[in-house]
Parts: sequence; structure tokens; C-alpha cells
Amino acid sequence: MKNETALITGSTNGIGKKTAELFLREGCKVMICSRKEEHVKNTLAEFKEKYGDSVVGMKCDVSDPIAVKSVVDETIKNFGSVRILVANAGINLEYGPFEHIPLEKVNADAKTVIETNLIGVINSISAVLHHMIKQEYGRIITLGGGGADRPIEHMTLYSASKGGVLAFSKCLAEEMSKKDSDIKINIFFPGMIDTNLTTSAQVMEAWKDRETFEREFALIQKYVMTDIEESCKNVISYALPSCKDNGKTFRGFSIMKLIKGFKKIRKELKDME
Ligand SMILES: NC(=O)c1ccc[n+]([C@@H]2O[C@H](COP(=O)([O-])OP(=O)(O)OC[C@H]3O[C@@H](n4cnc5c(N)ncnc54)[C@H](OP(=O)(O)O)[C@@H]3O)[C@@H](O)[C@H]2O)c1
Repeated sequence: MKNETALITGSTNGIGKKTAELFLREGCKVMICSRKEEHVKNTLAEFKEKYGDSVVGMKCDVSDPIAVKSVVDETIKNFGSVRILVANAGINLEYGPFEHIPLEKVNADAKTVIETNLIGVINSISAVLHHMIKQEYGRIITLGGGGADRPIEHMTLYSASKGGVLAFSKCLAEEMSKKDSDIKINIFFPGMIDTNLTTSAQVMEAWKDRETFEREFALIQKYVMTDIEESCKNVISYALPSCKDNGKTFRGFSIMKLIKGFKKIRKELKDME
């Protein structure tokens, strides 16, 4: 990735940070960013020690289109281009059935999740797209997530936002396929990864107490979760000029491991009863 330049949103933690590190290891120049100044400062210091001037960073909340435009401009100013965008920033506020989100909370929660996970992706792509069209090249990777492509329970707002990301990415890929420029947009499903997003979401108390949830969650960590590096290294080939896929979903996890893992969890929970 020696001639590559990347902007990765939400890259001071979890999947975004690991992807940034993998890109830097491959010789790519990377702009890291996230909402909190402190997170950017710490991650930048950590990466600069190993990768020197190949990494820059700044604060950017993807739900704010002005901040996103600034981070794109700053990337171009530093590296001369943005050839890769990983629109990664994302949040999940809570686990549990939709009916348990209090009426007075549901609208605000939906707005928060959709403003980061969906509008954040739209802001990031729109800020970078004209530049990519002008340079007639770009690789864009968006993040799918649970519930986006098939129904799952207990993360309805998150799943709705990710379904939007999937539809937006596929439709934009279709539009880009009609142009002469070499711009590809693909959607990454990393699998379940042990990150802040998975561990810090609130459990709806009307549904399950924290202790029960944590016991069950520990089984998910044991049997279902995928190693973060194993998962994120799958992003590299979709970020390279050799990627010919467009509008495709790709995975960072094994479906067999997932199926077997959930079987083991069901068995352990039954044994516990
Ligand atoms: N972990 C999983 O199992 C999993 C599975 C499928 C998909 N995903 C997707 O993968 C992506 C990354 O998730 P993760 O698990 O790595 O989460 P994470 O560990 O919580 O990291 C999220 C990163 O995004 C930043 N961020 C949050 N809101 C932001 C905003 N509005 N603007 C800019 N940056 C923001 C955070 O930093 P600040 O707090 O400083 O902003 C942090 O650096 C998300 O899109 C998520 O939906 C995760």
C-alpha cells in the first residue's frame, strides 16, 4: 500500500484503529480521526512512534458535515489525495427488545444512532466523492453490522441504521459503475468483535438484568467472537487498486464458527438451567 492514502473514520479504537494499524504496516499513509480529542491524541502518539509522518490525526464527529469536510481537506493537504475511505465510525446504544425502549427515549436514541451510523457514512462519502471523481479513482469501504442483511433481535435501531448503510452503499456503487472512473464501494461485515461497541452498550433493564446478560455475553465472547486482526485484514484487498468488486458485501468471520458457536452457547445455557 506504499502509494496509498487513506481516511478512516472512528479510528481511535476497535475495528477502525486496527484497520489503520494494518494499513500503516503496509506502508499506507493514514488520517485517523474520531470525536474525542483525547482519543485522537493518544492514538496518534502510539502510531507516530512506529510509523512517523505516515500518520496524521484530527478530531472529527462524522455526524457533523462541516467537520467531515475539514478532515477530508486536511488529509488532502497532508498526503495530496484520499484514495481510500473506510467509513467505519459507528455506535450501538443498547441491547434488548424495541418495546422496552421507553417512549420518551426512543426518538432521541434513534436520532443518535442514525446520525452517527448512517448520516455519518453519507457525510463522509459525500465529502470525499467529488475528490475521488476528479482523480478518477477511489476505494470506499463501509461497515455493515448485525441485522443489516437479515433479521436479528435486540439491536433494532442499530440494525436499521446498518440496513441503511447497506442500501446506500449498494445504490451508490451502482451509480459509480456507470461512470468511467475507477471508484468501488464495498461493505464489510467484520463479525462479532470484542470492542467498546460490543461491551459498553446498555442492557435494557426491563428485559434482562446486567448479571444475566454478562453471563450470556461471556459465552458469546468465548465461542462466537472473531479475533480483531483476523477480521480486519480482510479489508486490505478491498482497499487496493486490484479490487474489482463493487457493491459487494465481504466478511471478516467464518459463518461455520458462528453457527457452531451459537450451538455451544445454547447447550451451555441449557446445562446451566
Ligand atoms: N464490534 C463488532 O462486533 C462489530 C460488528 C459489526 C460491525 N461493527 C461496526 O464496526 C464499526 C466500528 O465498531 P467498533 O466495534 O470498532 O466500535 P468501537 O470500538 O466502539 O470504536 C468506535 C470508534 O468510532 C469513534 N466514534 C464513535 N462515534 C463517532 C462519531 N460520531 N464520529 C466519529 N467517530 C466516532 C470512537 O471514538 P470517539 O469515542 O473518540 O468518537 C471509536 O474510535 C462500527 O461501524 C460498527 O457498527 C462492529
